[in-house]
Amino acid sequence: MRKFLSYTVVLLSASILFNACKHDIITVNGNVSLEPVVVVNPPATTAPAGGIPAVSDTVCFNTDVLPLYVSYCGSSGCHNDASHREGVITTDYGHLMNGIRAKNASGSKYYTIIGNGMPPRSSPQMTATHIALIKKWIDQGALNTQCTNVCDTNSFTYANSIQTIISTNCGGCHGTKPGSANIYLGDYASAKTYITANTSTFLNAINYVSTIAVSKRMPPSAKLVDCKIIQIQKWIQKGYPQ
Ligand code: HEC
Repeated sequence: MRKFLSYTVVLLSASILFNACKHDIITVNGNVSLEPVVVVNPPATTAPAGGIPAVSDTVCFNTDVLPLYVSYCGSSGCHNDASHREGVITTDYGHLMNGIRAKNASGSKYYTIIGNGMPPRSSPQMTATHIALIKKWIDQGALNTQCTNVCDTNSFTYANSIQTIISTNCGGCHGTKPGSANIYLGDYASAKTYITANTSTFLNAINYVSTIAVSKRMPPSAKLVDCKIIQIQKWIQKGYPQ
């Protein structure tokens, strides 16, 4: 029964993916569909074994790819909507697809330039893991995949979860010293020290509480998905396990 259920989830998700690719309604650069592709994404550990491609292997645009482009390229003064240096905007799917070609990473300007001039040398740089993830997303078709159930809230150590959440979502602005607003979160000790001294400021910022200024809600582009906020909160409550 459990097996049958997981196959059903896989088939359903596959058909959602498939159908969403079929009707390309809104387009930007010629033939790119802007339609969100909803991925009901079970955590990788629950993917069925044997033969069937795991849906959970899908790279999520909303939680994996966009935060990298926002954090490392889209800060204010650079490639966000207001600044759009050289006409480049990397803070939403439609604009980002102006420089991405599905299944053709080497032909994708906004991919090949990473580490070759952009981000500028003085700014935080994406890691090899970040770049590989973007490539995988392009290889999978560069779809506007929107995932909701993307993490396991029982996993909240720094090494297993928190480091990745921070480097993906905050690293472009708070990943090298001194960091935006003089907040540096680029390694375990620094993140722990900052959060210990500023716990409520930090929690209000990631929870987008309505009582704080919009400019202080973090990350600025969009709130983290709930399960990532829960992981961070547990990490803090349990005393910052490594
Ligand atoms: C695009 C750049 C950018 C990204 C990405 C970003 N920040 Fe920030 N952060 C800023 C700037 C700029 C400020 C100062 C905002 C202000 O004072 O109005 C700031 C301020 C903060 C503050 C202080 C808020 C306050 O009330 O004083 C915290 C805490 C913070 N960031 C945490 C984070 C965390 C955690 C992430 C990732 C989940 C993140 N930031 C992602 C640019 C960024």
